[in-house]
Amino acid sequence: MLIIDGKKVAAELRQKVRNDVDAIVREHGRAPHLAVILVGDDPASQIYVRYKEKACDEVGIVSRIWRLDGSTTQCALEKHLAELCESDDIDGILLQLPLPRGLDANRCLAMIDPRKDVDGFHPENVGRLSIGLPGLKPCTPYGVMKLLEYYGLSPAGKQAVVVGRSNIVGKPMAMLLSAQTPFGNATVTVCHSRTPDLGAICRQADLIVPAIGKAKLITRDMVKPGAVIVDVGMNRLPDGKLCGDVDYDNVLDVVSAITPVPGGVGPMTIATLMANTVEAFRWRRERPLCPVD
Ligand code: GUN
Repeated sequence: MLIIDGKKVAAELRQKVRNDVDAIVREHGRAPHLAVILVGDDPASQIYVRYKEKACDEVGIVSRIWRLDGSTTQCALEKHLAELCESDDIDGILLQLPLPRGLDANRCLAMIDPRKDVDGFHPENVGRLSIGLPGLKPCTPYGVMKLLEYYGLSPAGKQAVVVGRSNIVGKPMAMLLSAQTPFGNATVTVCHSRTPDLGAICRQADLIVPAIGKAKLITRDMVKPGAVIVDVGMNRLPDGKLCGDVDYDNVLDVVSAITPVPGGVGPMTIATLMANTVEAFRWRRERPLCPVD
């Protein structure tokens, strides 16, 4: 049984990004620059943003965090985004979600220059992913794919079940796993809160990717012997401990490979964000008009 070591794989990816950043500095005289916008005081978002800032420092990416008051208006936020899109010094823009009530996230995301969209949430990048064109990919599902690749766990021809249908993880995850790419070609089922018999569907799966945010939702009886589990869930238990969407301790002797929480997908999300920022730097220079290939 394999414990998938997200910390190790993420550290290797960050090292690769660090080398890419050094090469960019030598060639262009400056490092890639990531702008992060955090609106309001959501506690989880504040922690995520600090991780992102720390990772930027480690790989040599310049980051600037814009902490905007929770009472920021849609108009003010859009003006701010427009300025960041216009600025030639900014290579990547990340709008931390969720936004406070009253702000329209989809409207904001659609304003971001697709070439600076390091989260891959702009409709252009979502469309690119859905039809198999190159583009910036959402960090968490991209990180899951990198873990599968690293350990040679090809989902090709396998039954994969994604639990959750969010725009951030579930939907792009299903697209990546079913894509006609070397680590795609899975037969994917997307389950969600209205799926009647989640257990029956999960029991068919060779690969389960839970991303729904419910502690220990996936129990031992829902897992086929030998299945691979990549747990995207991140839940805080009453005792303060972090826990994924899987009843980890009780599935350990059933699975063939599993990610721990923490130390699985989380570090990969941050590392792929770093890789996307380098990609965004190159994309804007090499493909100024967002061509289709
Ligand atoms: N909130 C939770 N996950 C994410 C993410 O990957 N990107 C952004 N921008 N916000 C998030």
